[in-house]
This record gives sequence, structure tokens and C-alpha cells, in this order.
Amino acid sequence: MTAPAAAKRPATVLAVSGSLRAASSNTNLLRAAALVAPPYITVSLFAGLGSLPLFNPDLDHEDEPLPSVEEWRALLRTADAVLISTPEYAHGVPGALKNALDWVVGSGELVGKPVGLVNAFPRSTHAQASLVETLTVMSAVLPPDAVVAVPPECKRLDPKGMASAPEIAGPFQQALDALVRVRDACCPNR
Ligand SMILES: Cc1cc2nc3c(=O)[nH]c(=O)nc-3n(C[C@H](O)[C@H](O)[C@H](O)COP(=O)(O)O)c2cc1C
Repeated sequence: MTAPAAAKRPATVLAVSGSLRAASSNTNLLRAAALVAPPYITVSLFAGLGSLPLFNPDLDHEDEPLPSVEEWRALLRTADAVLISTPEYAHGVPGALKNALDWVVGSGELVGKPVGLVNAFPRSTHAQASLVETLTVMSAVLPPDAVVAVPPECKRLDPKGMASAPEIAGPFQQALDALVRVRDACCPNR
């Protein structure tokens, strides 16, 4: 008789969209990721990107952090992994997303953190390359299995439609699983 499979430990993934647009396809893809996540993984969307002040080291007081910055850092600290989906603007990472990352360079919430990337626009290579460079220098862990390329025609769908498309659901589930495997390998008791 085979032994029953061990229950997987619950995991939380913080989903971060680089677009502030209400009808953003990147945000919709992350909503779809939440819908297709296996039961032991909770994907929650970060809603505060647009509320972060412009990064200024003079505003970064260790003893009295700005509330929006502290919320962003706390969500990253408690998340087991992060999933980012972003558009490309003028061959770069959107300012709002880069700004959010700048706020956690010194505080270090992304050090050793597994980060997955959704490549919603495979022809937009500059933003993805720049994001990989920034996250790497910040010591995040980018598992190759946690990079999802989305077929262009799927981006017009709403989150439910995306979640029902096997070419989205399958790669998202694999990516989420890869992120949690990194968590399990590096921090078995987390
Ligand atoms: C100001 C601006 C600059 C853009 N620059 C690029 C670019 O350099 N390369 C690219 O592939 N797409 C570019 N785009 C297209 C966006 O990546 C595209 O509209 C994407 O769907 C936006 O994502 P969202 O639906 O999540 O907001 C740009 C769009 C805007 C508004």
C-alpha cells in the first residue's frame, strides 16, 4: 500500500502589477493567477503601488516609517513569494513599480525571496530584462520555472476567462508551485 502524499504547507504569494490602469491586462492576469492557484497557495494582489510616495532616502526613517511604505514592506516580509506582472513603458519598467522596488532596496525584504515573473508581452523584452537585473542585484531568487509567458490573444480576456484558458492556467500553476518549492528548499520551517 502506498503512503498518502504529505499535505503541502500553506503558502502566500503577493501579486504585484506594474500597471495602475483599472482595466490593466497585467492586473487581470494576476487575478487569474489567484483563481487557478492550488488550494494550499493564497495569491493576494498588492493594491498600494499607486499610494507609495516617490522614493527619497530622506523620508526613510527607520524609527518612524511612512505608513504606506511600512505596509508594502510588511506584506513582502510575510509573503512566501512574490509574482510580478508588468507592462513595458518606453523600453523600461514603469516608474510606479521601480519606485516600489526602490523603497525595499535598503530594507531588504526581497533578499532571498522567490519572485516569479509574468511576461504578458513577449515582444516587450526591455522591461523584463531590466526587472530581472534589478531583482537580481536586490538578491531576490528568480526560479526559471516561475516565468510565465502569456499568449497575446489571452490578454483580452477577463480574469475568469484567463483562468479557464489552459495555456494560462497550466503555466501559472507550475510557476506558483516552483515559487513554493524554493520557499520549502530554503526555509523548511518558515
Ligand atoms: C506611455 C506608454 C509607453 C509604452 N511603451 C511601450 C514599450 O516601450 N514597449 C512595448 O512593448 N509596449 C509599450 N507600451 C504598451 C503597453 O505595454 C501596453 O499598453 C500594455 O498593455 C499595458 O499594460 P496594462 O494593460 O497592464 O496596463 C506603452 C504604453 C504606454 C501607455
